[in-house]
Amino acid sequence: MAEIRLRGLSKSFGSNSVVRNVDLDVKDGEFIVLLGSSGCGKSTVLRMIAGLEKVTDGEIWIGGELVNDEPPSSRNVGMVFQNYALYPHLTVAGNLGFGLAARRRGRGRRAAREDERRQIRETAELLEIDHVLTHRPKELSGGQRQRVALGRAIIRRPDVFLMDEPLSNLDANLRERMRLELAQLHRKLRITTIYVTHDQGEALTLADRIVVLHDGQVHQVGTADDVYDRPADTYVARFLGSPGMNLYTLPPARIGDDLVLADGALRLPAAALPPGAGDGRPLSIGIRPEHLALAADPPGGPVSQGPRPAGSGDFPAEAAGTSPPDGATTAGRTVLRCRVDILERLGSHLLVHGSLSTGQTVIARLDAQAAVRQGEQIVLTARTADTHFFDPDSGDRLVTASMPQLAGARA
Ligand SMILES: Nc1ncnc2c1ncn2[C@@H]1O[C@H](COP(=O)(O)OP(=O)(O)OP(=O)(O)O)[C@@H](O)[C@H]1O
Ligand SMILES: [Mg+2]
Repeated sequence: MAEIRLRGLSKSFGSNSVVRNVDLDVKDGEFIVLLGSSGCGKSTVLRMIAGLEKVTDGEIWIGGELVNDEPPSSRNVGMVFQNYALYPHLTVAGNLGFGLAARRRGRGRRAAREDERRQIRETAELLEIDHVLTHRPKELSGGQRQRVALGRAIIRRPDVFLMDEPLSNLDANLRERMRLELAQLHRKLRITTIYVTHDQGEALTLADRIVVLHDGQVHQVGTADDVYDRPADTYVARFLGSPGMNLYTLPPARIGDDLVLADGALRLPAAALPPGAGDGRPLSIGIRPEHLALAADPPGGPVSQGPRPAGSGDFPAEAAGTSPPDGATTAGRTVLRCRVDILERLGSHLLVHGSLSTGQTVIARLDAQAAVRQGEQIVLTARTADTHFFDPDSGDRLVTASMPQLAGARA
């Protein structure tokens, strides 16, 4: 049993404060991913948990014990680094058994040797490297070497696994395969794991919960769905997703039941707004590229022909949701008007890079067959339920009726 508890964990190097007041509860058997851009303090957090770095302030609890002053050797953590170094002169079996051999000398018992052989065999079978036990590292593929490095940590049956970008040395294909293997391995072993990466794909596939770290601070802790669908703030909204969320901070105006921003470049039903938002103050609005769709042509001609005079009342009725044709409701949609600047055809889909009349960019991920031409004006819509609102000053998420829950936002 090893849950991990971090309380007010902080680290400074001289006057440089690199980890600030991190609180985290990791459940026994949970797979936590620390996600953040380079230099945000991920490795420093991990190294403090492993005991390789002294804490400046705060507490680290592993399995109910305060370990701040415990040396790494008595914390029973297994660590896998990005630059794992295997002993080149030892075979795979020798590398796997290395830490055990050190223990065996201490115990000095014969039976221990038999025990060790069994552990090496079992670990190698688990990682499917049992057929290369007599090989040396230089005779192995990248993936096999990575598995030996993992095996060295696994064989000691640690209470906690700490992994610092363990796959980043591998090529893209192998990385994807290995991350699935890691997920399977975790399902089998259920060892409490903290995994560091700046790769959101790894985080989204591996994590029970993701901790988004920025500038030494936790911005959000939540499941992949929490952080992706309900980002706690504009940083998380931009950081996750590829491309990240379209975000605009604009002064709103109310026209009838609609909220209109930038003279109609953006329009949405005012009823969807968070309480108190949009009254005089600017509003930050976010929409993910994949939630945007090309508006269907309204009756009376395609909406995509010709620019629309700013602020005029000729907004496509269907797109605006004010008077749906044929009884089908299109209300509850957020509408954007933009000019198409660049089209990126990516096989499975089309990325449209456009600009609003304000000059701000829009990225939409459309169907590969979408009828869009460079230079034309188009109307894009998204369900208003998929539209995110943030405080323009703090960047914090504003909770709405359609997206009420929010897990693990920064306090
Ligand atoms: N021993 C050290 N002495 C001084 N500053 C350090 C030390 N180790 C780390 N830092 C600084 O602390 C900050 C966080 O570093 P850390 O290695 O934790 O980042 P990271 O999130 O792991 O980044 P990356 O993704 O690039 O590995 C950086 O600004 C780094 O320069
Ligand atoms: Mg690092």
